[in-house]
Amino acid sequence: MSKTIVKFGVIGCGLMGKEFASAAARWLHLSQVNFEPQIIAVCDAVPAAIAWFTDNVSTVKSTYSDYKELLANPDVDAIYCAVPHNLHEQIYIDIIESGKHLLGEKPFGIDQVANGKILAAMEKNPNVIVRCSSEFPFYPGASQLIQWVQENKFGKIIEVEAGFWHSSDLDPTKTINWKRRIATNGEYGCMGDLGMHVLHLPLRFGWKPDNVRSLLSKIVPERPDGKGELVPCETWDNAILATEVKTEDQQFPMILSTKRIAPGHANTWFIRIQGTEMSAEFTTKNPKQVASLPYTPGAQQAWHVVDAPYKSAYGTITGGIFEFGFSDSILQMWAAFCDELVNGKNMQQPFYCATPEEAADSHKLFTAALESNRTGQTINIEWGE
Ligand SMILES: NC(=O)c1ccc[n+]([C@@H]2O[C@H](COP(=O)([O-])OP(=O)(O)OC[C@H]3O[C@@H](n4cnc5c(N)ncnc54)[C@H](O)[C@@H]3O)[C@@H](O)[C@H]2O)c1
Repeated sequence: MSKTIVKFGVIGCGLMGKEFASAAARWLHLSQVNFEPQIIAVCDAVPAAIAWFTDNVSTVKSTYSDYKELLANPDVDAIYCAVPHNLHEQIYIDIIESGKHLLGEKPFGIDQVANGKILAAMEKNPNVIVRCSSEFPFYPGASQLIQWVQENKFGKIIEVEAGFWHSSDLDPTKTINWKRRIATNGEYGCMGDLGMHVLHLPLRFGWKPDNVRSLLSKIVPERPDGKGELVPCETWDNAILATEVKTEDQQFPMILSTKRIAPGHANTWFIRIQGTEMSAEFTTKNPKQVASLPYTPGAQQAWHVVDAPYKSAYGTITGGIFEFGFSDSILQMWAAFCDELVNGKNMQQPFYCATPEEAADSHKLFTAALESNRTGQTINIEWGE
C-alpha cells in the first residue's frame, strides 16, 4: 500500500519525545495503513536531548534550540510538542499560528486561562488539526469497554470509577523535578499531569460531571533537590474527585482519581463501569484481561475474566495470541493522529485522539476541583451548550 509521509518536527525531546521517535521507528509494525510519520526536525533546550535523536533517528535533518526556527522550516507538516506545562501556552499558540498541525501533550496549558488562549488560537486557524495526547483508550481491553458503552450494554449505570495511579513518589528520597513544582507543572498538580488520561473515555462517552467534591492530598512535603538540600514539594500528590453525572437517560456517581502515591501501582490506568445489566472493568495492571459481569434478573452474578486478544484499532503484524503494552498504545495513538491528518473524516477506524475541547473540559473540572478543595464545598460545573 502506498503511504503518505507526514513530516514531523518534535519540540521537547525528553521522555515522551523519545516515545514518539520509537513509535515512528517501528511503523512497519502496522499493517494496511496509508500514512507514515517521519521525524525530520527536532528542538530541545538541552543539547544532550537532541543528541539522542541525531544518534538514533536517521531521518532527522535539522536540529534547533529555538522552536521558532523549527516552525519556520517549510518542510515540516506537523509537530509533536512534549514540554513542561508552563510552556504549553506560548509554544502551542505559535505552532498553531505557524499553520502546522499539532499533537500536543496534556494538560494543554498549565491552567484554564492558558488553555483558553490555546483554543482561541485554534479558532483563528481552523485548518490546523490539533489533538491532545492520550494513549490508554487504545489498549484492546479499553476498546472492548468502549464498544460495550456504545452498544448500551450496561443498562442503568450504577456508578463509574476511573483512575490513574503511580507510586514512585512514595519514596521520599526521590529527587524533585519540574512535575513537582507549581511554576512548571501547575496548581492542578497530579490532576494536570494524570487527569486527561482518566477523563478521556468519560468525556468521549458524554459523561460530563454536573458537580464535583474533591479531596486533594499533599503527602511528601519536601524532596531532595539533587544538590544536597531539601526543597518544598509543592504540588498535589493525590486527588479524589467525587462527581455526579446526569445525561439525558442516566444519572450516576463517578469517582475519578489521580494518584502519584498509590503504593504498589506503576502506571495503573483503569475504568470500572457498574450497571444493572452488565458491569465491566479494564486496568493496565492486568493489561491482557477484561472482566465483565453480565446480569439478567435473578441469574447468578459471576465475573468473567478473559485474556483480551491483541486486537488493536489499527492492524499489526503481532498475532492475536500475544500481549499488548504501553508502547503499543503509543503507536496506535500515533496511527490515529496520522490517519486523521491524511484521511480526514475518512479515517481507517473511528476512534480519534483526544480533542482540545475534551482537554478544555478537563480544565473546567480540575479548576472546579481546586475550588472544592479550597472551600470544602461541592462545586457545580456549567458546561455551556
Ligand atoms: N502521554 C503520556 O503518557 C505522558 C507521559 C509523561 C509525560 N507526558 C506529558 O509530556 C510533556 C513532557 O513531559 P516529559 O515527561 O516528556 O518531560 P521531560 O522533562 O522528560 O521532557 C521535556 C523536554 O522539554 C525540553 N524543553 C524544556 N524547555 C524547552 C524549550 N523552551 N524548547 C524546547 N524544549 C524544551 C526539556 O529539555 C526536556 O527534554 C508534558 O506535557 C507531560 O504532561 C505525557
